[in-house]
Amino acid sequence: MLNASRGSRRCLSSTCRLNLHCTSIAPAKTAKAPKSNETKAKKQAIKKYYGEDVEYGALSKAQKAFLDRVIRVDQAGELGANYIYFGQFTVLATKYPHLRPVLQHMWDQEVHHHNTFNDLQTKRRVRPSLLTPLWKVGAFGIGATTGLISKEAAMACTVAVETVIGGHYNDQLRVLMNQFNIPIYDKETGIPLSPDQISREIETSPELSSLKQTISTFRDEELEHLDTAIEHDAEKAVPYMLLTEAIKIICRGAIWSAERI
Ligand SMILES: [Fe+2]
Ligand SMILES: [Fe+2]
Repeated sequence: MLNASRGSRRCLSSTCRLNLHCTSIAPAKTAKAPKSNETKAKKQAIKKYYGEDVEYGALSKAQKAFLDRVIRVDQAGELGANYIYFGQFTVLATKYPHLRPVLQHMWDQEVHHHNTFNDLQTKRRVRPSLLTPLWKVGAFGIGATTGLISKEAAMACTVAVETVIGGHYNDQLRVLMNQFNIPIYDKETGIPLSPDQISREIETSPELSSLKQTISTFRDEELEHLDTAIEHDAEKAVPYMLLTEAIKIICRGAIWSAERI
């Protein structure tokens, strides 16, 4: 019970002996009130943008070059994967009928990955790797040869390829997440927007979001192929380490070349 009529903050309770030192007296709030109102007003003044009312700035030269490289190498990689499964299927599907649906399923997914990057390549007018004929012959050769060695060797080949491709997709996703902060503008006024005006859903342009989603879905499917190969005795291939390490080196070399040539 306080007497606040003349600015005094004396406790009027008859049972209270502490008077001004009474701990039940809450600190005066009058000094803080304007500050909180000010913050509230500021928050109300910030307009949030949710999509249709924004425009994305252009990509830098380096960002454009990076995206072209991503599409070129991923298209070449998926073409390679498509032909590896083609080679494996050709050699193993009749000999081991129980492997036919397993190989067919992985091959179908690779065909879908390949077609998706073919479309992106056309849409963004990215030139394909000049070594495309080599990727086709080399990939079919790796698939067929490992299949001829044994079904386990074919699965070991899948382990090696998918390990490298999974890591490669992760590297691309890291760059796309961290280095693609494109400026965003109000569509009507052209005024650049600050981060607190932008809702989470529109932080990335629809085009980049879709590319990230594609890569992350394909990465997950590649890792499923890796698990499938392990389940189908990849580690029983002889010599497992030599085979997988050699194929990993070939894949890394192919990625390096496809990005540049
Ligand atoms: Fe793939
Ligand atoms: Fe795959």
